Amino acid sequence: MKPLKVAICGGGRTGHLNAILFKQLPDVQVSLLTSNLEVVDHHARQVPLQALLPDGATLNARLDRVTAEARPAVEDADIVIITVPAHARAKTLQAIAPHLSTSKPVYIGAIPGFCGFDWLAEATLANHPNLVIWGMKDVPHTAFELKPGRSIKMGGGKSQLYVATHARESQASRQHLHDILTRLYGPCVTLLDHYLEITLTPGNPIMHSSVIYGLIGPYGQWHRKIFPQRLCWWTECPELGAYFLERMDQESQELCAVISERMGVDLSSVKSLKQEIVEAYGDQIRDQSSMLSILRTNQAYNDILAPMVPAGDNRAGYVIERESRAFNEDVAYGLVLLVEMARRFELKVPYIEEVLHWSVAYMQGLRDSALDYFPSQWPRTA
Ligand SMILES: NC(=O)c1ccc[n+]([C@@H]2O[C@H](COP(=O)([O-])OP(=O)(O)OC[C@H]3O[C@@H](n4cnc5c(N)ncnc54)[C@H](OP(=O)(O)O)[C@@H]3O)[C@@H](O)[C@H]2O)c1
Repeated sequence: MKPLKVAICGGGRTGHLNAILFKQLPDVQVSLLTSNLEVVDHHARQVPLQALLPDGATLNARLDRVTAEARPAVEDADIVIITVPAHARAKTLQAIAPHLSTSKPVYIGAIPGFCGFDWLAEATLANHPNLVIWGMKDVPHTAFELKPGRSIKMGGGKSQLYVATHARESQASRQHLHDILTRLYGPCVTLLDHYLEITLTPGNPIMHSSVIYGLIGPYGQWHRKIFPQRLCWWTECPELGAYFLERMDQESQELCAVISERMGVDLSSVKSLKQEIVEAYGDQIRDQSSMLSILRTNQAYNDILAPMVPAGDNRAGYVIERESRAFNEDVAYGLVLLVEMARRFELKVPYIEEVLHWSVAYMQGLRDSALDYFPSQWPRTA
């Protein structure tokens, strides 16, 4: 079999785990682009990488290349997988763009592919007609407790992996991408018809922002207060946060319905968040009667801490971290996009807007956002 050259961009949890899993396969070469020089140094010293599996087993791997330089990481890649968070993708794409092959198709995708990666890649990689743009709806496995360049713990895996391509891609390119991803992940890869099925799937952007709003927004019991200890995201989720999440979930479904009707796109695969969570975790949820009980009693959500930092100024306790990914990624690249899409269809999404406006004020304004690449003519095609 012809060797498959995979370049992973981003040496975090998702990047480490996928790199190790791919190296278990025959004829797959893996290079990792990382800005973490500790990871580069460990590789140079031949320290083996390890994935620690949920059943206690261990997988070892030695990657073919680990580098902080874009050119050697991607120059001969058949497939490039971006695993940096949404707010860091533009910088990564700009760094690798000049070094991607121009003489063969290169399949460039993001895991996860939310926040409109198709639009970002199209805008950043214009003049590269050989690139095939794709995204995966979610991470194939959760990954945590990273020891950079040494080990990563693998959490639960998805039984199905959903992948979409940019609307411009041909049927032949889609089929070839499916073949490549099946080689990498096995027969659980399904191609979606439209990238909007990924972009409109509700997830972290509404989950994280609603809970934070319920905790410290103007009506939250912790408004302008300091938390005595760090809080768990879900088991200690406030009633108000769950209420806003339920409403935002509803608005996001309404947005889907409007887009589906006006654009003639089948978005029936996009389920409500509640349904997604119940289907994904099933029996692990003790009480499925409401959004609040689903969040509070899902065993898979136990012990996940909300993003908090010490309060500072010699004050004891903690505050929600303004620089957390819940703001920089989920608000600036997730919520902003939903509100703008709704605006273009003249659909009112008052709950999402309320949470967005408060979050942006808490962030002290947006430095960058998905609006930097969201096509100005959408939903009209260019
Ligand atoms: N881990 C999970 O189980 C999980 C679950 C669901 C979704 N996700 C999603 O998967 C994506 C990657 O998550 P992850 O958990 O793998 O993240 P991570 O462990 O924090 O790794 C992200 C990597 O991205 C690079 N990066 C560049 N600029 C960054 C910035 N401004 N902030 C943070 N990282 C930056 C860094 O790579 P270098 O070190 O090479 O510079 C960093 O190690 C995110 O979109 C996340 O929401 C992850």
